[in-house]
Amino acid sequence: MSIATLEIKKGLNVAAIREDFPILHQMVNGKPLVYLDSTATSQKPEAVIQVMDAYYRKTNANVHRGVYALAEEATAQYEGARKKTQKFINAKSYREIIFTRNATEGLNLVAYAWGRKNIRAGDEIVTTQLEHHSNIVPWQLLAQEKNATLRFIPVDDQGQLRADQIETLINPKTKIVACTMMSNVAGTITPIRDLIARAHAVGAITVVDGAQAVPHMPVDVQELNCDFLAFSGHKMLAPFIGILYGKRELLEAMEPFLGGGDMIREVHMHESKWNELPYKFEAGTPAIAEAIGLGAAIDYLNELGMENVRAHEIELTDYALNKLRAVDGLTIVGPARAEERGGVIAFAVPNAHPHDVATIFDREGICVRAGHHCAMPLHERFNLPATTRASFYVYNYPDEVDRLVETLEKVREIFKS
Ligand code: ALA
Repeated sequence: MSIATLEIKKGLNVAAIREDFPILHQMVNGKPLVYLDSTATSQKPEAVIQVMDAYYRKTNANVHRGVYALAEEATAQYEGARKKTQKFINAKSYREIIFTRNATEGLNLVAYAWGRKNIRAGDEIVTTQLEHHSNIVPWQLLAQEKNATLRFIPVDDQGQLRADQIETLINPKTKIVACTMMSNVAGTITPIRDLIARAHAVGAITVVDGAQAVPHMPVDVQELNCDFLAFSGHKMLAPFIGILYGKRELLEAMEPFLGGGDMIREVHMHESKWNELPYKFEAGTPAIAEAIGLGAAIDYLNELGMENVRAHEIELTDYALNKLRAVDGLTIVGPARAEERGGVIAFAVPNAHPHDVATIFDREGICVRAGHHCAMPLHERFNLPATTRASFYVYNYPDEVDRLVETLEKVREIFKS
């Protein structure tokens, strides 16, 4: 493929970016790998792999404990990654950044530590039909335990939240509004600022699932004014680690989520005192190398520029939507315009099960995800048991979309769809 086809008009030099990702330069099933599953997990650039390799080769020691040089260096690198994360989402303080196992753990932390203390019988928790299970199930558990009611903002046929329902559903009984910033299936970018404003107007707190948005667009928590934001390192070029941002005053008022080492100031036989933020919420040895890798991934994304990342994905998504619309019979989930969605496109092929479709793609070296993508209520809304999903990131380019569409034509021939 020529360099010209690798470059798209706006944003990023994809040819140069691809050189930074060793995994992309291989054959799978005899075909050049096309990785279109970054919504599940992104690939990692050399810079991230190297910084973790160097940590294990030269620095490996536990953090916040040793007084020897290696331990101090490990602590400095780990806490350095926290400060990079703080800056990346423009949090006021590093104390508002908690490292977790993944975004799911961050959402559960809020449901458990804020929810168990503040939710009473009769209260309402509002989420949406767009959500990943990780932003539904923790609220179901909380609502069941406290006799609270869980309500859902429905979506229209385009996969957009129904604006006409927001005022009724978010009302003075609402205590929590939990919403994604970008759907992992429909790609919908939600009107998160309106939801946050409405939630605050009725005295509710806001919990934003940023797992899909933070890797793909500029996100500023002070500008959003959200109370909590959970996201995942592994979807933004980093290793498997999660991040929970929370407003300091809310985190200060919460009891711990998990108990153990590092989250305490004092432990006596029958009582303990908690450590200061953020350590109160980081029990036990954390994912040190992963946090350091996250710091390197943030450096890499900052170098690219998040505005450029977004521009690249709009352009590629627009290209893909136009090509896919030309495929007969395909049902495409989500908003029509690329500007209203992220770089994720879920579709259904008539008469073909998505797992069979994905298997045929695999034979061509193309990685896509098939299933309900941990969003069963959204699939139920569209009467689809499952979909096939292609998703894009900084290293994808239009020729890969062409291979996706060519393979789709083969799928249609096989299934006579
Ligand atoms: N949440 C990830 C996805 O949507 C795993 O694929």
